Amino acid sequence: MIKASDFGDDFLWGVAVAAAQIEGASESYGKGPSIWDTFSKRAGKIKKGHQPTHTCDFYHKYKEDIALVKTLGFSVFRFSIAWSRILPYGKGIINKEGILFYHRVIDECFLNGLIPYVTLYHWDLPDALEDEGGWNAYSINDSFNNFVSICAKEYGDKVKNWIVLNEPFGFTSLGYMLGVHAPGKTGLTNFFSAVHHTAIAQADGGRILRALVPNANIGTSFSCSEVIPYTQSDADVTAAKRIDCLMNRLFIEPALGMGYPGADWDLMEKFSIQHSTWRHTERLTFDFDFIGLQNYFPLTIKYNAFIPVLQAWEVKAKSRKKPHTAMGWEINADSFYNIIKQFASYPGVKKIMITENGAAYHDKVLGNHVHDPERIAYFQLYLAALLKAKSEGVNITGYMAWTLMDNFEWAEGFNARFGLVHTDFKTQRRTIKDSGFWFQKFLHKI
Ligand code: BGC
Repeated sequence: MIKASDFGDDFLWGVAVAAAQIEGASESYGKGPSIWDTFSKRAGKIKKGHQPTHTCDFYHKYKEDIALVKTLGFSVFRFSIAWSRILPYGKGIINKEGILFYHRVIDECFLNGLIPYVTLYHWDLPDALEDEGGWNAYSINDSFNNFVSICAKEYGDKVKNWIVLNEPFGFTSLGYMLGVHAPGKTGLTNFFSAVHHTAIAQADGGRILRALVPNANIGTSFSCSEVIPYTQSDADVTAAKRIDCLMNRLFIEPALGMGYPGADWDLMEKFSIQHSTWRHTERLTFDFDFIGLQNYFPLTIKYNAFIPVLQAWEVKAKSRKKPHTAMGWEINADSFYNIIKQFASYPGVKKIMITENGAAYHDKVLGNHVHDPERIAYFQLYLAALLKAKSEGVNITGYMAWTLMDNFEWAEGFNARFGLVHTDFKTQRRTIKDSGFWFQKFLHKI
């Protein structure tokens, strides 16, 4: 059985949350609507028509929730700043109440002995900026840079650990290609232009933080999934390579100065040729102090001629009779180990933090107890895989569980529960799940 001490005394243990998923008060205290507020009002976009209007009401309950992070034994609290709480229209007028709110959250972390890790963009673009084209508009980079500068100047004296973007591939693919996340746009043209502006934002954000925050520890977080060919046939292997370019390489390689991974996928090459400015890799490059990795599942990929452009198809865990979570995501800790090794093999990656990892299950609520043995088993497996990678010399400095409490799980609404703490969305009562108590014990706080 692994122990927290196996990871060393300096290893950081945390939980991660995101503004749009927990704060509530979504259109009060001066906050402007984000694309998620607007998207969730469109019929059929979110399961059961759920909306993030109140969600966990963290806006009012932040003291209680931050105290819970401490109670569970963690030392890091990762949260994000809602851009439209600071700038209701995305630019221009600054909302003083929003500025003060995050000061209170940061101060509360320190009162509880927690280190704040602040994410600047966790998917909640101000809706007013989407009206101008969102991540498809050339002007988005100026707006983002202005937002980053305001946050860096305002909080930089207190906050030293920054994550510029959360999962750029996640929000550009789901929101600008597949249309299943806000703002609901589709198609490759939208996707690739959003990708490019996002890759610029990632590096620009890093540069602004470096210039404005003394002694900053600057990172950005990538989603990652080992991509496994269904068979060793050439067709399946090359289909898997195309998906790997998208899922794993699309954002880290430009940040490392390598440009987009076009050499391995002609479609990407075509896009970067069409947009000659994309070849200027300098602006896309930034020397991050650490990279955040977020892993939830591997992908098994089979060639399929009927799928336009990608010609690749995921063979789901269920159909392969593999263990999976309530999201249908395959539980495969070896793939966690493999993908960490894949990212660690880039010479430019200096330090890795796992900034999210976790699982949704149908928890059993019995009176004051919430039983989630599957989630405990999941964490045990994944932490063992992490320890293996660390023991082999990968410079992994921390792990953040996703997530503190059940929350607004994007297009799944309140139907998918990932928390270590159960949220009753009617009463706002929090109940620590067995997995929360498991972490508490694991981290030696009881
Ligand atoms: C996101 C979280 C999300 C989690 C589970 C990650 O991709 O950063 O916001 O809740 O996955 O789906």
